[in-house]
Amino acid sequence: MKKFEGKVALVAAASSGIGKGIAKVLSGNGCSVAIFSRNADRLKDTADEIEKETGNRVAHYHADLRQRESLSGLVDFVHRSLGKIDFLVMNYGDPKLAPFTELTDEDWDENIDMFLRSTIFLTKASLRDMEGRGGRIVFVTSMTTKMGFENFAISGSLRSAIVNLAKVISLEHAARGVTVNSISQGYVLTDRVRSIARTQSERKGITFEDALNDIRNTIPMKRFASAEEIGNLVSFLCSDEASYITGVNLQIDGGFVRFPF
Ligand SMILES: NC(=O)c1ccc[n+]([C@@H]2O[C@H](COP(=O)([O-])OP(=O)(O)OC[C@H]3O[C@@H](n4cnc5c(N)ncnc54)[C@H](OP(=O)(O)O)[C@@H]3O)[C@@H](O)[C@H]2O)c1
Repeated sequence: MKKFEGKVALVAAASSGIGKGIAKVLSGNGCSVAIFSRNADRLKDTADEIEKETGNRVAHYHADLRQRESLSGLVDFVHRSLGKIDFLVMNYGDPKLAPFTELTDEDWDENIDMFLRSTIFLTKASLRDMEGRGGRIVFVTSMTTKMGFENFAISGSLRSAIVNLAKVISLEHAARGVTVNSISQGYVLTDRVRSIARTQSERKGITFEDALNDIRNTIPMKRFASAEEIGNLVSFLCSDEASYITGVNLQIDGGFVRFPF
């Protein structure tokens, strides 16, 4: 029997990249998984691919983290299709990157909707569902919660709020068998990193491979994480082995962030 047989996970923003890697690992461990994102076709292909690979049910729903109505529909859908939520994994789309003074009120509103309001809404809905049964909640943030990066005002500030939110909720639910943790990942080789490398290659007039190597060389391990490695950490935090871990923020970054605490 696989360790997550009979369990149900809701994984946000999971048609590609890190979210997909997390959904794949949970599914491979026997979990039924519901995934959502905006592009319905890509979402369906991802669900089919994971289901084929693992043999476990992957339900998919077309929803936008920034739109409350679509998230309400999502929660109903998970109940109808899989019956409950045992694990909530909040992953996100890309934040707007720009110098602080160039960010508009609309940029902030849109990103507050994507990062904070979605987290508040889906966490409340999941906690109601977990009542009396316990559960696991993991917020997938970024190394921008650990150190400042120019142009990352939105990412750094909103994700740091999410890390703190996890801590508060973990305390309020510690005696009810729900653990709430966050992770801060470094560079993971996904479409997002490829697109950053493409932009840098154009800006610096170097090849795409050289731009990718420049990023890789900033990582002490001299390699990117795979999305599945992020999935392995999330899977651990959802497992019985992690039953006494709550309210923590774990770094998974190949050594990128140098600070010891
Ligand atoms: N890759 C890294 O090195 C790295 C490092 C630190 C932090 N992060 C952060 O981790 C998160 C995932 O990154 P990634 O590299 O996996 O990116 P990715 O490969 O571009 O995947 C992003 C996923 O989010 C979905 N998505 C985007 N906007 C959405 C929205 N408004 N509502 C619902 N789903 C949405 C996308 O699907 P649709 O387009 O179909 O909606 C896609 O499935 C991002 O917040 C990123 O900033 C990444």
